[in-house]
Amino acid sequence: MPTNRDADDKDRCKLSMRTVTVHGATLFEVRTGAISTPIYQSSTFRHPGLGETTGFDYSRGINPTRMELEKTIALLEHGTCGLAFATGMGAISSVIKLFKSGDHLIVSEDLYGGTYRLFSEYYARYGFSFSWIDTSDIALVEASLKPNTKAIFIETPSNPMMKVTDIRRSAELIHSRGGILVTDNTFLSPYFQNPLDLGSDLVVHSGTKYLAGHNDTLSGFIVHSRPDLADDLVNAQKSEGASLSPFDAWLTLRGIKTLSVRMERHEKNARRIAHWLREHKRVEKVFYTGFEDHPQYRLSGTQSRGFGGMISFYLKDAADVPKLLKNISLILFAESLGGVESLLTYPLVQTHGAIPEAMRLSAGVNDRLMRLSVGIEDADDLIADLDSAFSKCV
Ligand SMILES: Cc1ncc(COP(=O)(O)O)c(C=O)c1O
Repeated sequence: MPTNRDADDKDRCKLSMRTVTVHGATLFEVRTGAISTPIYQSSTFRHPGLGETTGFDYSRGINPTRMELEKTIALLEHGTCGLAFATGMGAISSVIKLFKSGDHLIVSEDLYGGTYRLFSEYYARYGFSFSWIDTSDIALVEASLKPNTKAIFIETPSNPMMKVTDIRRSAELIHSRGGILVTDNTFLSPYFQNPLDLGSDLVVHSGTKYLAGHNDTLSGFIVHSRPDLADDLVNAQKSEGASLSPFDAWLTLRGIKTLSVRMERHEKNARRIAHWLREHKRVEKVFYTGFEDHPQYRLSGTQSRGFGGMISFYLKDAADVPKLLKNISLILFAESLGGVESLLTYPLVQTHGAIPEAMRLSAGVNDRLMRLSVGIEDADDLIADLDSAFSKCV
């Protein structure tokens, strides 16, 4: 089985997540002693002779910098194999290469709009069918299974409505049919949630978000421990050519070093801001998995170690949207999440613009919904910024 974890990685698995993030899979490069993984900016590698190899040949398939990142994400997600892609969408597109025309997939209806577009506008053309449902309703997931269902694809917590899907139960349901569970773990990162431990077969990430963490690069991952899928996934990565470049692999590795401190601060700030927003007179409702009255609060406690840094909220009046976006000055009006800078997004026209209106509205994405990716700035400054912007919404 192609695995990029070494035998002695077993010892590394015993280390705390805080330590693994800092040191990655390899403490230092043996040849030079370099502590920061060198950027092997080479497209190709010389062979010593016919039938001889250094283990590297062509960077679309394998590259030393990317390999260190792939081993690191495999360790963090408790998998045996990690694959790094140019973007999260590159990773998700490669997952779909496991299936064939006629296959049916159950997908969270409330998920990143780009994933919806990829599945419904492209893969539907090749004979795949999709049921878009509220996967936090496990009875609905069960009722949606068909004889040709080959996978359940979930985002949990979901983007942007913060619904939580039961990973264990979803895995049991699809395994009883011989299919696979794919979990997009972007929102919590491996620091707060490890879906492979709960029965998910594949984990995907937009590494662009919390893993890289600085809004300065894009990347994506697939992680798994399935020997039977390993060749297919490696081939998909190599054949499609969406593999991550050495420099972006290095930036992502550097970001991961501080994942634990960032996630802890993101969460602390998000908790304060969620409670503050909930009391604000211009806000109708706040969606945050850390509220004790969140419908899946208890479930979160059984499958995650934290609530992350994402909050969504409905304003009472849609007319406040442009005013709020215009008047925030520290928090930035931009699309993306998971970076050190706080970003406010308007899903209707940004992240979820590709989703048809009826489906968007059924998922809860209306013209009053805002999504806040809480950064690691001082929480008082963030609250003061929101307060000042709200005060101008008159
Ligand atoms: C949950 C989730 N998954 C996947 C993606 C796609 O990732 P990328 O933008 O790195 O292609 C995004 C992007 O916003 C996302 O939010």
